[in-house]
Amino acid sequence: MTDEVSRNERIKEASDYLRGTLAEGLRAEITGAIVEDDQQLVKFHGMYLQDDRDLRSERTRKKMEKAFAFMIRVRISGGVLSPVQWLTLDQIARDYGNGSMKLTTRQTVQLHGIIKSNLKATLKSIDAVLLNSIAACGDVNRNVMCNPNPSQSRAHATALELARTISDHLTPRTPAYREIWLDGERIAGGEDEVVEPIYGKTYLPRKFKIVMAVPPSNDVDVFAHDLGFIAILDEAGDVSGWNVTVGGGMGMTQGEPDTYPRTADLMGFCTTRDVVAIAEAVVTVQRDWGDRANRKHARLKYTIEDRGLDAFRAEVERRAGVLLSPAKPFQFTSTGDRYGWSAGENGRSHLTLFVENGRLLDSDGAKQMSALRQIAQSHDGDFRITPNQHLIVANIPTEKQKEIHWLAAESGLLAPWSGLRRNAMACVALPTCGLALAESERYLPGLVTALDERLAAHGLSADDIVIRMTGCPNGCARPYLAEIGLVGKGQGRYNLYLGAAFDGSRLSKLYAEDIEHAAIIATLDPIFAAYAAARQKGERFGDFTIRAGFVAATGNGRDFHANVGAQSGRAAAR
Ligand code: HEM
Ligand code: SF4
Repeated sequence: MTDEVSRNERIKEASDYLRGTLAEGLRAEITGAIVEDDQQLVKFHGMYLQDDRDLRSERTRKKMEKAFAFMIRVRISGGVLSPVQWLTLDQIARDYGNGSMKLTTRQTVQLHGIIKSNLKATLKSIDAVLLNSIAACGDVNRNVMCNPNPSQSRAHATALELARTISDHLTPRTPAYREIWLDGERIAGGEDEVVEPIYGKTYLPRKFKIVMAVPPSNDVDVFAHDLGFIAILDEAGDVSGWNVTVGGGMGMTQGEPDTYPRTADLMGFCTTRDVVAIAEAVVTVQRDWGDRANRKHARLKYTIEDRGLDAFRAEVERRAGVLLSPAKPFQFTSTGDRYGWSAGENGRSHLTLFVENGRLLDSDGAKQMSALRQIAQSHDGDFRITPNQHLIVANIPTEKQKEIHWLAAESGLLAPWSGLRRNAMACVALPTCGLALAESERYLPGLVTALDERLAAHGLSADDIVIRMTGCPNGCARPYLAEIGLVGKGQGRYNLYLGAAFDGSRLSKLYAEDIEHAAIIATLDPIFAAYAAARQKGERFGDFTIRAGFVAATGNGRDFHANVGAQSGRAAAR
């Protein structure tokens, strides 16, 4: 390898297919942590080493090691779990974790607070119910998401099956996971093409994310991901093929305009038969063309910006042996979830629950973990995590509906009336995320309460308005695709973004920088007032903020950083 590759590239190459010194590190009882290089490698096994940041200063004062613990992210294609799998994750959260489960914006479950000595037992329990955490983090293809919509059952079944096939096809083959966590036999390493035929020794330049969308719902936020497939449905509601999108991504670094969120481009249309070949080709072109020197420029979105979509498409077609047709028309209506009951096939029904910011726990007020455990104990359908951090109890027979409804209502799992809260998402941030600059999950509910008061004053309580918050610019809750986006800048301080499209097709624009709680409310209140007074029929809040001149519309890519700030001349004129 040349001198020009990043440190992570060297770590991957020297790791012997992701083994590193993880096995030894696990046995070292003197510390709750693992060595630095292994901290990078353990991500490929679905884990992050973290510490409880609420306890940092006290422990430093007492000269104690940080309160280290691991976050484990499970790989759950399409977010679908059987009741037994649900019960297992619930049990792990209580036995080894911090007693709660986080349903994530990428349809999986994160378990926090697992100490090093419990990692193996945890991963064995996960393995026993045919789940794993391989490649849930790291420079590889992550969990493949899929629209969980229960009302289009046949299209959903096709999309889910494909999501699972793509996920299996692109899962790393290294036996390291089995050896280290499940006490598997050491299998001698071999040639690249034998161990990792798709990835090779150094895997991908950066993380890689794939989703399957089924219009009219864009709940998976297809334009936020490296690779997306949008189902094209025939008149009977069956899938006739897929539009392919490439080059979406959210992350950016504050103060570095060469980094930016980007919505994916439509690259063409393919048949269901060709989906896996296209997915593999997109992954291998990015493997070979992606930037391995600068990790901040290593996502597929920058490869596409630098090389151009046409060159990228031509190389994908060549490698897949498939010619893409022009993309077909489709229409998205929203990125949100449809809460409540919906009818399925065979007389069964589905219930979409509301889980605020995806955080499930048993608090004094509401015993949500217990309620879901009780449902799972006698449920014979499935659980589907939505891309908005909520949960669908799917395929409920008529005779169970009353009981399940009552359990959900009693534990506060039915959707609230507030249109803002119904469309809110927050990333984890403090206390576990080492990158967080500000609170997110622990702050957003209170902010929504305050904003709801202002919305009520303007008669907008029931209007669906998308609000998302993250504790740093990495964008884990996709804030740049929210009509109101808040991104942590420092303790208690946020950048405010406005003007994204309700259907997830257009990014937002920076409107106000570095503002605190009171200023967030004071800044938004007059915009709510203007919206109530001057919106056109059916006009969405994000579209309105552009038409009324509060922010400029974002085109794509580098344009995100252009024309930022309050377009004061125009806005003041209203
Ligand atoms: C440079 C970019 C990024 C880095 C370094 C990063 C890192 C992290 C870390 C450390 C966590 C764990 C937080 C915790 O549980 O304590 C996390 C959570 C998460 N990230 Fe990211 N992230 C990045 C960008 C993104 C983006 C763009 C997405 C999605 C579009 C995403 C999706 C998630 C999800 C789904 C979670 C789980 C928590 C949740 O649902 O809020 N990440 N990320
Ligand atoms: S957005 Fe930032 S603070 Fe939030 S989970 Fe992601 S990395 Fe952590």
